[in-house]
Amino acid sequence: MGHEWLRGRRIVVGVTGGIAAYKVCELVSTLTRLGATVRVVMTENARRFVGELTFATLSGTPVAHEMWAPRDEIVHTSLADFAEAVIVAPATANIIGKLAHGIADDLLSTTLLAFDCPIVMAPAMNTRMLCNAAVAANIETLRQRGVRILEPEEGRLACGDEGAGRLPATEAMLDALAEALGVADAPLAGMRVLVTAGPTREAIDPVRFISNPSSGRMGYELAGEAARRGASVTLVSGPVSLDPPAGVHVVNVESAGQMHQAVEAHRGELDVFIGAAAVADWRPAESHDQKIKKGDRDELELRLVRTPDIIASVAQWDPRPVLVGFAAETTDLLENAERKLREKGLDMIVANDVCRSDIGFGSDANEVTLIRASGNRTPLPRASKSEIARSILDEVQDLLGSRTD
Ligand SMILES: Cc1cc2nc3c(=O)[nH]c(=O)nc-3n(C[C@H](O)[C@H](O)[C@H](O)COP(=O)(O)O)c2cc1C
Repeated sequence: MGHEWLRGRRIVVGVTGGIAAYKVCELVSTLTRLGATVRVVMTENARRFVGELTFATLSGTPVAHEMWAPRDEIVHTSLADFAEAVIVAPATANIIGKLAHGIADDLLSTTLLAFDCPIVMAPAMNTRMLCNAAVAANIETLRQRGVRILEPEEGRLACGDEGAGRLPATEAMLDALAEALGVADAPLAGMRVLVTAGPTREAIDPVRFISNPSSGRMGYELAGEAARRGASVTLVSGPVSLDPPAGVHVVNVESAGQMHQAVEAHRGELDVFIGAAAVADWRPAESHDQKIKKGDRDELELRLVRTPDIIASVAQWDPRPVLVGFAAETTDLLENAERKLREKGLDMIVANDVCRSDIGFGSDANEVTLIRASGNRTPLPRASKSEIARSILDEVQDLLGSRTD
């Protein structure tokens, strides 16, 4: 699988004193390149194998190795608060034994006891050490407690012996992290989803534009939820003041034209398209390069022209993704939404009454009706936008399932 899910994930990498420590440079570099935020914790013995500067440079953050350095924060608990997952690589016989017995005598072993997130360990050691009854029992104990322990690979070991004990490949460690974070067997694993969100801005001149009050929250919730379900998610966002959801690739745009281009860049690549953006239907026919001066005129006429119909153009793609649109209506909600569903050739439309001030635009809650192309209508009771996002994605999964049946 691809590893887009790593974007924005917070991962702690614990490095211990094994000869394979140098191979973990590649793991840290890959995690960082794929967009994860990585903190490296090294044991004092690991620092005999690889200089901390290497890991600090690859992760872009100073390495933590000292328990007792005076600081503003308590390092082991702040690392535990930070982490979504931790991987110990290479994991020495020593750290495996310490974690199995609750020993906390340095920063990494203490931090491991403070984590309540998933722990992955990638043991690497001489075959005889690996087969030692105490080490084998410690590995078993940790497995039973839910620690994910990768099988060491077989081959020629640094000491010249042949056998099991080599550090697993970087790809295997990434897959183990995906599993630990629940991404691998998630319902949308392997699916490519694009969500548009927020308003667009159609420039009149450099300081004025036509827009609408969409906060973008519904689209951001949908993108975040799709990522949590394992999808590879691109969020094409108009100007909003929201933090990017974890695990999502965000493309920022301003106008409907730019949003259209950003969407077209994914032609033929998507399994699901969700158009949650409130795209302006019209833009000024001409956008002035300089600010329009008030002068002494009382009136200013603006001529508006249509913007591209993004979702209708995605409906023409071949292959065509599952298409979900939104209908923000102020009158005859369900009738208008159903017409839009048919005219644009969507699989589902989310009908949204934007007249009500307690829901919809800018609000944290919403009350919508999901209408399928089959005519099925599912009214959802008033709920938070994150709950609505879950219901919409349940329907999307159902639509994807009925495609492959
Ligand atoms: C050259 C050399 C290579 C070593 N390689 C390993 C190894 O691959 N796996 C292992 O478990 N221990 C290995 N050790 C032993 C550990 O460094 C030792 O047990 C140490 O106490 C581990 O400390 P740490 O777990 O705090 O990093 C090696 C030692 C030396 C001198």
